[in-house]
Amino acid sequence: MKLALFLLLVTAQLWTQAFAKQRNKSVKSNHQRILSERLMNKTDINLCEIKGNSEHMHCVCSDGTSVFNKTRAECWIFSEISTDNSIWNLFSTQPWLRWLKLMVRPEVKIFRLPKVIFTHLHRLEYVSILYGNIEELPSYAFHESKTLKEAKLSSNGITKIATHCFYNMSELTLLQLDENNIEELREDMFVKLPKLSKLVLSRNNISQIQDGTFSHLSQLEELFLDGNNLRSLNRMTFMELGHLKMLILSMNKIGSIDDFTFEQLWDVVILDIDQNELRFLSDRAFSGLNSLEELILSNNYLTVLPHGLFADNTRIKYLNLRNNELKSLAYETIGPVLTNIVKHSNGDLIISGE
Ligand SMILES: *[C@@H]1O[C@H](CO)[C@@H](O)[C@H](O)[C@H]1NC(C)=O
Ligand SMILES: *[C@@H]1O[C@H](CO)[C@@H](O)[C@H](O)[C@H]1NC(C)=O
Ligand SMILES: *[C@@H]1O[C@H](CO)[C@@H](O)[C@H](O)[C@H]1NC(C)=O
Ligand SMILES: *[C@@H]1O[C@H](CO)[C@@H](O)[C@H](O)[C@H]1NC(C)=O
Ligand SMILES: *[C@@H]1O[C@H](CO)[C@@H](O)[C@H](O)[C@H]1NC(C)=O
Repeated sequence: MKLALFLLLVTAQLWTQAFAKQRNKSVKSNHQRILSERLMNKTDINLCEIKGNSEHMHCVCSDGTSVFNKTRAECWIFSEISTDNSIWNLFSTQPWLRWLKLMVRPEVKIFRLPKVIFTHLHRLEYVSILYGNIEELPSYAFHESKTLKEAKLSSNGITKIATHCFYNMSELTLLQLDENNIEELREDMFVKLPKLSKLVLSRNNISQIQDGTFSHLSQLEELFLDGNNLRSLNRMTFMELGHLKMLILSMNKIGSIDDFTFEQLWDVVILDIDQNELRFLSDRAFSGLNSLEELILSNNYLTVLPHGLFADNTRIKYLNLRNNELKSLAYETIGPVLTNIVKHSNGDLIISGE
């Protein structure tokens, strides 16, 4: 009897202890849940788990070792958010981001680039902004980022670029601004970009290029200006581009090329002036292009080529003159390049045809 009572007491005590433990546990986890919910409801605490501001922006993050240590983020912007909105400070919760893509929904009429996000991201190497109706890119848009290597700003309705917009970005190698509405390039736009090697300005509405616009880009190798509204060039347009290898000027309205326009482009291998309105090339138009291997002059209105036009371009192995209005081609003109074209198995001289 005594033993039975003792056993009962022990069992009851054990059961009470177990129950208390269980209760402690559930109180604790419930408390944690409320705490974290409250944090989420009131202010978001992590860019990659946005709850409270979900009507403005939503980010999907990947890679990285923990939830506060992501290296890639893709964010959708759902509404117009002013540049001083605190939501942009959420980028400070992911300081390890190296890769960022911002996609703007079509409902957003104007997207003002929030420069502040770049003050938080000291490891960012790649940024891409898509479909944003940006209109004007501000000065120091990327906060003189010392880590950004690639900036892609294609298709953003950019019309204006403020002074020193892309200023002092020591690691930037690629800048893409294609499919925007830029009308003018100024000398203050591309300054202190010591590593920029590729600049894409295709399919804008550029009609003016201020003298010296590219003269600070000493490492530039590829320049794309196709699909614009250019009518003329001069010898100051491309000055100091001593490392340029490729110059694409197709689909513009260039009517003539004067002496020494490409004078300082010693390294250019490919020059494409397809689909312009070329009627006149002066004798020394291609002077200085000593490394030129491919010259594309197709789909223009050329009727004659001056003697000695290719005197400096003895390395040409591909010359395309298709779809011009040439009546004849003098040996004095074509002679200097002919032997070279014949010598190369992949060389070609295209004069007529569709
Ligand atoms: C329950 O939690 C309290 C403090 O919160 C602690 O003093 C007590 O020992 C816990 N009880 C058990 C059975 O874990
Ligand atoms: C957080 O928000 C949800 C839904 O909006 C709500 O059900 C919940 O009670 C809120 N939690 C707190 C702690 O305020
Ligand atoms: C975050 O990740 C980096 C490497 O990507 C690592 O060096 C760092 O220690 C991590 N920090 C934390 C808090 O996990
Ligand atoms: C460029 O950036 C570096 C590093 O942030 C800074 O020290 C330097 O003063 C800047 N140069 C100019 C001309 O603003
Ligand atoms: C392109 O630029 C010209 C001025 O050079 C302007 O008149 C025209 O409206 C622009 N086109 C577009 C589509 O913005």
